[in-house]
Amino acid sequence: MSPILVTGGTGTLGRHVVRYLLDRGQPVRVASRRRAPAGPQPHEWATVDYRGGTGLAAAVEGTSAVVHCATNAVRGEAELARTVLAAAKDAGCPHVVYISIAGVDRHPLPYYRGKLAAERVVADSGVGWTVLRATQFHDLVYRILSALARPPVLVLPQGVRVQPVDSGEVGARLAELATGAPSGRVPDFGGPEVRELSDLARAYLDTAGRARKIVSVPLAGRSYRAYRDGLHLAPGHAEGRVTFEEFLAQRR
Ligand SMILES: NC(=O)c1ccc[n+]([C@@H]2O[C@H](COP(=O)([O-])OP(=O)(O)OC[C@H]3O[C@@H](n4cnc5c(N)ncnc54)[C@H](OP(=O)(O)O)[C@@H]3O)[C@@H](O)[C@H]2O)c1
Repeated sequence: MSPILVTGGTGTLGRHVVRYLLDRGQPVRVASRRRAPAGPQPHEWATVDYRGGTGLAAAVEGTSAVVHCATNAVRGEAELARTVLAAAKDAGCPHVVYISIAGVDRHPLPYYRGKLAAERVVADSGVGWTVLRATQFHDLVYRILSALARPPVLVLPQGVRVQPVDSGEVGARLAELATGAPSGRVPDFGGPEVRELSDLARAYLDTAGRARKIVSVPLAGRSYRAYRDGLHLAPGHAEGRVTFEEFLAQRR
């Protein structure tokens, strides 16, 4: 069986994709900028340089699909997708699966604009493609809240709701999509509940055993307004089952 390449297979989401593909009996190759870890691995490893393109041709060679989870969070998400898609096309890979974010076509946050541009690169690449948009991962909400809880007062943007989703459930869905035929843009994958950020912060503080006063303040700017207006939510696609509290309990 030909392997499936997972770019960013070392990341929060990519690790789950790798695990679920292996569970399906699917050979996997992980693409990473890092050197192969020492010792035997349950999957192949390809060290790549996305900027110069070194190693990418060998990474995509002979694959039945690429799940593109690597992200250039600072900038250049579209450029990264262009490099990966060009290599996939040159190698004759029949299917690229790209993970995007709910609401990227409505929300002005620069990272989301980059994700939208990357979606277009994927769709225009000439390679069979599937794009799944997900809402924010529990892991991300947890990381943000634990950083915000460092000072004695936890300051939050006022009126923001989130629909956090379990990255494992998104990984399982991506594994399913990657082993199927190219499907274009598929229905979004959102978390089970739309919650006030302040509500999630209280759940986080309770579990972490940290006493903090929560203060919500209005912010300026288009991106804040877009979050307040819920443009990053997918309430019609509450596919995930794992709640934020269940995620917190699992972490413990
Ligand atoms: N986090 C969320 O809430 C969320 C929600 C919806 C969709 N998504 C999407 O899901 C994907 C994965 O997100 P994640 O949270 O799992 O990310 P992550 O944990 O940061 O992992 C992404 C991987 O990308 C690679 N990487 C990092 N910087 C890079 C760069 N400048 N150029 C190339 N590769 C780089 C790293 O792998 P190596 O160091 O091994 O190369 C890293 O392990 C992203 O496309 C993201 O937009 C995330």
